[in-house]
Amino acid sequence: MSAAKTNNAKLLKWVDEIATLCEPDRIHWCDGSQEEYDQICAQLVESGTLIKLNEEKRPGSFLCRSDPRDVARVEDRTFICSQDPENAGPTNNWCHPQEMKDKLLPLYRGSMRGRTMYVIPFSMGPLGSDIAQIGVQISDSPYVAVSMRIMTRMGDGALAALGHDGDFIPCLHSVGAPLEPGEQDVSWPCDPDNRYIVHFTEQRLIWSYGSGYGGNALLGKKCFALRIASAMAQKEGWLAEHMLILGLESPEGDKIYVAAAFPSACGKTNLAMIIPPAGYEGWKAWTVGDDIAWIKPGSDGRLYAINPEAGFFGVAPGTSMKSNPTAMESMSRNTIFTNAALTDDGDVWWEGMSDVPPAHLIDWQGNDWTPDCGRNAAHPNARFTTPIVQCPSVDPGWDDPKGVPISAFIFGGRLSKTFPLVFESFDWNHGVYLAATMGSEATAAADNQEAIRRDPMAMLPFCGYNMADYWNHWLSITDKIDHPPKIFRVNWFRKDGNGKFIWPGFGENMRVMQWILGRVQQSNNAVESPFGLMPDYQDLNWRGLHFEPALFRELMSIDRSEAQKEAEDQRSFFDRFGDRLPVELERQRQNLVARLDQAPPVWQLAGPDDRSENKARSSGR
Ligand code: GTP
Ligand code: SPV
Ligand code: MN
Repeated sequence: MSAAKTNNAKLLKWVDEIATLCEPDRIHWCDGSQEEYDQICAQLVESGTLIKLNEEKRPGSFLCRSDPRDVARVEDRTFICSQDPENAGPTNNWCHPQEMKDKLLPLYRGSMRGRTMYVIPFSMGPLGSDIAQIGVQISDSPYVAVSMRIMTRMGDGALAALGHDGDFIPCLHSVGAPLEPGEQDVSWPCDPDNRYIVHFTEQRLIWSYGSGYGGNALLGKKCFALRIASAMAQKEGWLAEHMLILGLESPEGDKIYVAAAFPSACGKTNLAMIIPPAGYEGWKAWTVGDDIAWIKPGSDGRLYAINPEAGFFGVAPGTSMKSNPTAMESMSRNTIFTNAALTDDGDVWWEGMSDVPPAHLIDWQGNDWTPDCGRNAAHPNARFTTPIVQCPSVDPGWDDPKGVPISAFIFGGRLSKTFPLVFESFDWNHGVYLAATMGSEATAAADNQEAIRRDPMAMLPFCGYNMADYWNHWLSITDKIDHPPKIFRVNWFRKDGNGKFIWPGFGENMRVMQWILGRVQQSNNAVESPFGLMPDYQDLNWRGLHFEPALFRELMSIDRSEAQKEAEDQRSFFDRFGDRLPVELERQRQNLVARLDQAPPVWQLAGPDDRSENKARSSGR
């Protein structure tokens, strides 16, 4: 056992209790040093869990292959355990805390036999920030220990910030695969049939069992920074959100920060690392975070955001020098890849990295792969784990304890129909309604493949309490601030009749960002539509991109009957929340219905010919 470097009584007692329960062979207190990281990685290479990549091509980097049954978050195995089921709400799996503990204690009993128990102290957020929080994860996975060093401020610094009487969120994790004496370990131990990702929101405690993958196992991320933190934030008057944080700087030196919520695998990392396209010379985009934002009212009446994480756990497939060179550069070294394919020269590859795939690979399951074999080389939810400081666009303020001021919130799903490229809410409450009714189509980020689902604020799998109360919290947060950010909806994913994306997306999203910046600075015009305020063709900057005005009108159009169906479907979603639903949201929905009643069958921006007739009213609000 390595010695505890703390005299924090709560921590020492908890570690002792868990060691007695789980019966590990050894206890290792993580200090977060490079030596420790190197040593654990070397041991993981030795045991076959990590494969060292070509040191010339990918210095300091490793490939890991998970058990094929353990490849993504498991939403149907994720539980919110509050005393009252009403406090978990209709969108979460609920179980009584005592019943859940009675179920899990036998699983944890002896579950770390034959293994090392890592005690992993970490800070979510800059050390010493009054928005930051300390957690301690106990895990029997060395892969988790090294991943937590990349993803959080992990080790002695966090322990020092905790101090001898500070409080922390206990995060218990076991892969659920004890080893009998002499038993040979497997490269990805897990217990896929008994996975439990459990949040005791009142006790502020996390228990995760049976999985080693991503958000199931790196407990600082979704479990703490979203589910537990959202419940804390409701009580304490702040926000914990599934949002990227991006800084935008114009050639004139104006700079604003925006926070944007998209569901998993819907483009947060891409937008967080956006590269201004042709025509945007002199513009800069700065990355503060790509997945989670903790947001608090500041003393100047504005909202301030920190990125609680210190690394990216990003979707690999589709990432290329074309789609996201910033991400490619960030992961050029010191990166752990999970479920990517291995090239013959010891590097990684995934679908979409290059137009022409290599002639031969070892796929994510360790089998030979050729382009004609009919299988994916990488798993669709393959991920890279890489330190944010390696990101070429990392914002100078990313580690600032006071956070960055937020001027706009942006919400967007993956929606091939009905929803225009961008619109702005009429006001705060309308914006909360637009965020609450967001929907999105399925992705590989979760083991959950409904075709389309409501994903309010991109928080459906991550809100640690009743979603209706969360909406109320959003509606009332303006009581605490003088300058509420503007709220926007975007949709990069609208498709034409042939199933092709209408909007080029990626860097070209900068044009939408520039309009948003102009709206924040009250220098850009907008047109009123049934959904909200929109840019007309001439309100966007088209320098460097040829995009037909007629195509833009198609992209921005609103089909009345589709929109009416949408409003109807929103009502059945709202109905699930009974009388906990804020009346304001249903009022907003009825306002939409009334606007649609007045709209033509296809609402469109005025074309060049009828613009003078003022078909769509110009509005400066
Ligand atoms: P999590 O890490 O799971 O929370 O997801 P994320 O939101 O960070 O996902 P990411 O940015 O990695 O999204 C990846 C997917 O979004 C890929 O399929 C991309 O091709 C797609 N994507 C991102 N931006 C755009 C865009 O502007 N247009 C289109 N069409 N696709 C995009
Ligand atoms: C997501 O699914 O939103 C992620 C990946 O960011 S995971 O950490 O696995 O939840
Ligand atoms: Mn995410």
